[in-house]
Order: sequence, then structure tokens, then C-alpha cells
Amino acid sequence: MNSSQSHDAKRPEPIGHSADALQNERVLVLDFGSQFAQLIARRVRDQNVYCEIVRHDISAQTVLARKPSAIIFSGGPSSVYDQGAPVCDRRIFDLGIPLLGICYGMQLTAHSLGGAVQPCPAREYGRAGLSISNMEKLFAGFPSQIDVWMSHGDQVQRLPEGFESIASTTTCPYAAIKHQTKPIYGIQFHPEVSHTALGGTLIHNFLYNVAGCQGRWHLSNFAEQTISQLREKIGSERVICGLSGGVDSSVTAALLYKAIGPQLTCILIDNGLLRKDEQAAVIREFTDHFRADLRVVDASERFLSALSGIRDPQEKRLRIGHAFIDCFKEEAHKINGARYLAQGTLYPDVIESGAAPDGPAATIKLHHNVGGLPEQLGFDLVEPLRDLFKDEVRKLGIELGLPEHLVWRHPFPGPGLAVRCLGEVTEAKLDVLREADEILIAEIKNANLYRETSQAFVVLLESQSVGVMGDSRTYENAVAVRCVNTDDFMTADWSRLPYDLLARVSTRIINEVRGVNRVCYDISSKPPATIEWE
Ligand code: XMP
Repeated sequence: MNSSQSHDAKRPEPIGHSADALQNERVLVLDFGSQFAQLIARRVRDQNVYCEIVRHDISAQTVLARKPSAIIFSGGPSSVYDQGAPVCDRRIFDLGIPLLGICYGMQLTAHSLGGAVQPCPAREYGRAGLSISNMEKLFAGFPSQIDVWMSHGDQVQRLPEGFESIASTTTCPYAAIKHQTKPIYGIQFHPEVSHTALGGTLIHNFLYNVAGCQGRWHLSNFAEQTISQLREKIGSERVICGLSGGVDSSVTAALLYKAIGPQLTCILIDNGLLRKDEQAAVIREFTDHFRADLRVVDASERFLSALSGIRDPQEKRLRIGHAFIDCFKEEAHKINGARYLAQGTLYPDVIESGAAPDGPAATIKLHHNVGGLPEQLGFDLVEPLRDLFKDEVRKLGIELGLPEHLVWRHPFPGPGLAVRCLGEVTEAKLDVLREADEILIAEIKNANLYRETSQAFVVLLESQSVGVMGDSRTYENAVAVRCVNTDDFMTADWSRLPYDLLARVSTRIINEVRGVNRVCYDISSKPPATIEWE
């Protein structure tokens, strides 16, 4: 089960927070409200350095206790002069820990240390040419000119004492600054976004040339240490793990299986809202890779009757969520003596739910994963992936020997096909969706575009349209094909799939799926649309 459910910070720390054991090298990203804080952390980890996101107002003492090798201040939407603008503990600047301020983080550093920040003559948004004047350390190995990505309304107007400019743009004289003797740097642009040329190299340079990091974060070490930590903590107890066939629950199960083997019981709940032959595929994958106990619950009827007559999308999600919890509860309590419940909670879930130690406050979740389980279930949680980002989970899956096709599976929502079947969910409508979905995925795979596409599916619309087949007029269903490309599923763009592929998909769906006579391609980006239709 892949859970984005909120976790209560008051509960005991679940097993799986292994970073402390593993990391004697860590970077803290202080989050000043940036939409890119997670991206910064991922870029740091790309350089084999462990990284955590913490609240902007973390105390200098707590920072010191975490023994970071470096600190990064994220950007943020505020101006340092705004009332209530986020600030940091001023003593952090005196800790002697290498610091990189990005955008707002740089402005706050300059402002706090006696410099001046002012609104730019014109808000700068997008690409800008950066001229680098000092190629040491941060810009080591850089050409003198690169393209960077800017997004700011304020900029540093006067440097604090002891600082110098090391790069500029035509409108921003202090696009990168450094302290002459202390390891404090600031950059006005965003190295974490892919539009900044050599952004990864800049982060590498900060970590290795400025902060002296060694690069100790490797998923193979993570796997090894997590497995032995799980083994030690779980002892001879029994663990239950919900399986969905997705990458998060599969990797969770794989780690546990390696740690405790036969003490693991997995539960697969078939809610009747899965794709074609999915139950069989999950069972096959499972038995190919594990020799653990698997309980399959066929609850299709229960879910479909809970959905009968329901058209409202929120109500559908709620009912599916409740039915899932009830089913899981019943099955879990049949497993005698189970003490732990394993969940595939990922680091973004931990951060966004506000449950990370010293992490930023909770943000509003885009949606709740209906697969999440209530605390009343009475198990202790095991969350071995709670330190990892999705791309790391995929790499870990490969490391653990899971097959590529499983590790790179497109995400599938907890409420399944119900949110792709607009209006009331019926068995007949689900069948149409299953057939159409199978054709779409098969054609995308044939075109070798499955990995390049982040998610692809078919939505059954509620409208019928007129068509002609042979000599007769038809009046049948329209479906929408939705394919998106995205890094994080928070924003997404529609996939520019080749026309001939779309043509094949459309022809096959209309010819092969009974009851469909029209196929539309969804060309909305997120935002303002969402990825799913309901
Ligand atoms: P939206 O539609 O919010 O989807 O743009 C973003 C990503 O989340 C998936 N999604 C869900 N996943 N439970 C899940 O496990 C849900 O209730 C749910 N709703 C949306 C969606 O498929 C996409 O990958």
C-alpha cells in the first residue's frame, strides 16, 4: 500500500527512520516556503550526500545537534521586508557551517548580515545570462557565461560587509556572492531546476569544494543497513504489508522479505477497480519474487455495491476509502499475532504531512491516499521508505532485484478505475475502461514510450456522440486519453505523443472496444487541470 496519509507526529517514531544510523554526513535544507525545497534535497542526494528538509525557524542549537556538513536556505515567495516574512535563527550564521542561500535564502542572508535588499526594477522570471567573475570553488570548471533560471521580485542591492560578488547578470549585479573568509555563499538563481545549465555541478561544487563532503549516501548501503535494522527491531514478530502492485508497496515488501522472510504476510485487496488482469499480475510478480504468505481478498462486490448509485467524485473516494479500511481491518485481524504494519510512506509524504522531525509544517495535501490506514488498527508502523524520494525508491527496487517493468510502472490511484469512470461506476463501464486502457498501454509500450511517459490512461466520459459504422448510425460513448509527463505529479504537462501512435490508439479502441465510437486526447496541463478527471 502506498500511503500519503498524514502521520501523527506524536506517535512513536516508526521503524524505518534509518538515516541517523547511516549518515554521518548530512545537509539540512531550511525551507522558507519554496515550491522547490524537495527538488533541492533531491539534487543534493543526486550527489550522494544525504539531505533533509527542516523548518526555517529551526534553532541553531538543533542544527548543531544534527551535525550537518552544510546548510542550504531555500527560496520562498516572501520579501524580507514583508511583515511576518520567514526568518532563521540569526546564530546559524555564526556556527561556521558552510551555507548556501538560494534566491530568498540569499536575500535573507544578505539582509540579516547588514546588506540591503530592494525590489528589482522589473521582476525577473525565466532564463538569464550569468557572467561569472570568480571561478574558484563554487564555479570551479564553469565557463564564464551560462544560462540560469531566475524567479524573483527582490534582489540584493548592497552587500553586507566582508562579501563580494562572484557573478552577475545584466540586471542583477549580485547574482552570486560569497563571504571573503567564511564559507557563506548566496545565489539569486535556482540551481535545482533543470533550466539552469550546470545546476547539478554547482550543487556538487558547493557540497564537495566548499563543504568538504565525501559522498557517502548510496542506496546499496541504505538497503543493507535498513535490512539489518529491520531485522533487529522486528525480532521474531509478524509483519503485515498491504500490496497494491505499485512500486512503493513492492519495494517495502522486498525490504521486509529480505529482512524477515516468512514472518511477513502480504495482503492484496482486489477492490474490483483494478486494471485488466491486474490481480493475477500482482500475484504472479509476488510469487516470482517472494516466498512469503500472500492473502488475496476479492472484495469487488463489496466495493461496487458501496458505489452503487453514487455520482459525486468525493463521495466515491470516501466510500472506497471506508470499504478499503474495513476490508483490510477484517483481513489483518485474521493474522494471528501480527504486531507491525508496513507502509510504503515516502519522504515527500512525511514532509507534506508535517511529521518529519523538525520538518516544515504540514502543507495541504492534494489528495488523500484512500489506501492509507487508520491508527485504530492497533499495529506499530514500519515505514522503511520514509527517508526516500520516489526516484530513490525505484533505484532501490532495482538494487533489491525487482524487475524493471515493476519498478517503472506508472502510478495507479488508490480509488482505481472508479475515478476514471465519470459518474456512476458500473461493471459494464469498468469493462469498457479495462479494454481501452489495455490497448493504450500496449501501444505506448510498442512505441517504446512507456518510460518517457509518466502516466497514461483512458477516461470513460458520460457523453454519447453520433458516429457511423458501416452504413449505420451509432450513438455511443466517448473516451478521453490522458497522457502526462511530470517529475513530481504536482505539476504536469500533456505528453506530445506522435500522431501516428495516437491514430493507432484511437483506431484500435474504436474498432475493438464495444460501445466506444469516439476518442479524444486530453491536452490540458496541471495546473489548472489535475491529472485524474475526478
Ligand atoms: P491529480 O489527479 O491529483 O493526481 O493531479 C496526481 C497523482 O496522484 C494520483 N492520485 C492518487 N493516488 N490515491 C492515490 O494513491 C488517490 O486518491 C489519488 N488521486 C490521484 C494520480 O493518479 C496522479 O499520479
